[in-house]
Amino acid sequence: MSDGATARGSATEREEARKIAEGLEHLSGFGNEHSSEAVPGALPVGRNSPQRAPLGLYAEQLSGSAFTEPRAENRRSWLYRIRPSAAHPPFTRTGNGALRSAPFTQTVPDPNRLRWNPLPDPDEGTDFLAGLWTLGGNGDVTQRSGMAVHLYHANASMRRVFSDADGELLIVPERGGLLLRTEFGMLHVEPGHIALIPRGVRFRVELLEETARGYVCENYGAPFRLPDLGPIGANGLANARDFRAPVAAYEDVEGPVEVVNKFCGNLWAATYDHSPLDVVAWHGNHVPYAYDLRRFNVMGTISYDHPDPSIFTVLTSPSDTPGLAGVDFVVFAPRWLVGEDTFRPPYFHRNVMSEYMGLIEGAYDAKTAGKGGFVPGGGSLHNMMSAHGPDRETFDRASAAELRPQKIDDGLAFMFETRWPVSLTPQAARAEHLQQGYDDVWRGLERHFRSLH
Ligand SMILES: [Fe+2]
Repeated sequence: MSDGATARGSATEREEARKIAEGLEHLSGFGNEHSSEAVPGALPVGRNSPQRAPLGLYAEQLSGSAFTEPRAENRRSWLYRIRPSAAHPPFTRTGNGALRSAPFTQTVPDPNRLRWNPLPDPDEGTDFLAGLWTLGGNGDVTQRSGMAVHLYHANASMRRVFSDADGELLIVPERGGLLLRTEFGMLHVEPGHIALIPRGVRFRVELLEETARGYVCENYGAPFRLPDLGPIGANGLANARDFRAPVAAYEDVEGPVEVVNKFCGNLWAATYDHSPLDVVAWHGNHVPYAYDLRRFNVMGTISYDHPDPSIFTVLTSPSDTPGLAGVDFVVFAPRWLVGEDTFRPPYFHRNVMSEYMGLIEGAYDAKTAGKGGFVPGGGSLHNMMSAHGPDRETFDRASAAELRPQKIDDGLAFMFETRWPVSLTPQAARAEHLQQGYDDVWRGLERHFRSLH
């Protein structure tokens, strides 16, 4: 380990990273045709691939969709870089750590309601990539369908660079801010924000605090997009302008850099003689984003009944069937509850879709908080058609509550909701932090039925 690499994990390095993170500029909007140049004149004007690109840069297209997909779905970016991505030595297999990929066939799919405590602390020197731990998922990476639920825990900044050919990565920090250095520039996220790294985009995760922890949805399917708003109208839910795309920023590093590529379920590594985060200018719509979930414009009832949680969809990965998502990302953000003659917490439910829930902070309104319950950094899985809903304590309290307007402002929970059942990895099925006796939260829901006859 070089002195420089040692320093990258130091408090001074974290302070420097924080200073950079807090001073970042960004581009505004989701799905835009963005453009940015770190050096004036680096971006060609009027064409993508001039005979000689400006400033001696190489022009390269990164295609996130087939060339011929309809314009609304078409995703590509043009990158102007110091060296073309093609200039690299062969990749060789490297260890997958606790990262697993679909198809998940090593355990028998489990219809039981399951809940986990947070991951235990990682070993010293664990970076974001080494700290990825797969809970489960569905689909098949080679078919570009399905998704995986990962958690991460880290106590060191990455020195290597990572990219995922298998899918895009929706990163949901729960503890510790992150500086993401990507080919397109830098993004800053804190707990309560999300970051979206498109398929194939190289990036490095640097820690802004001593430790970091959170969740990742690896989406093998169609890229996440904003949901249609239907009768809601032209505004609301996650507003496009609140998404932050990076401005171009590049590393001009000559020297060994380890680059890790996830391809068809395995990690492959190569040592480049330069940093591949060397993009001086770019334009396009296949770009990373960050978003503050507290900007979510929450819609809900102003009359009666608890709306279906689809009203809280931030991003959706559509399938070929209209309205049926490969995976939805849904947030339960602070909001007012005003429903009259209404059981206000989430209702009892069985769902063809499978629901993985995580908690970023505070408590969730269908579950009692506290140790051994649904805690920040933990998660629950309610698989296809498994019966779930408020626990006994929540049911009793909400059934008796005086129905005054009530603000829920002590929690931030989210859901990855997917069309296929989630199969577990063996490590998740046998984890020490898998809670025993989760079913007990519904035990003792009393019989109240009284026949009038
Ligand atoms: Fe549900």
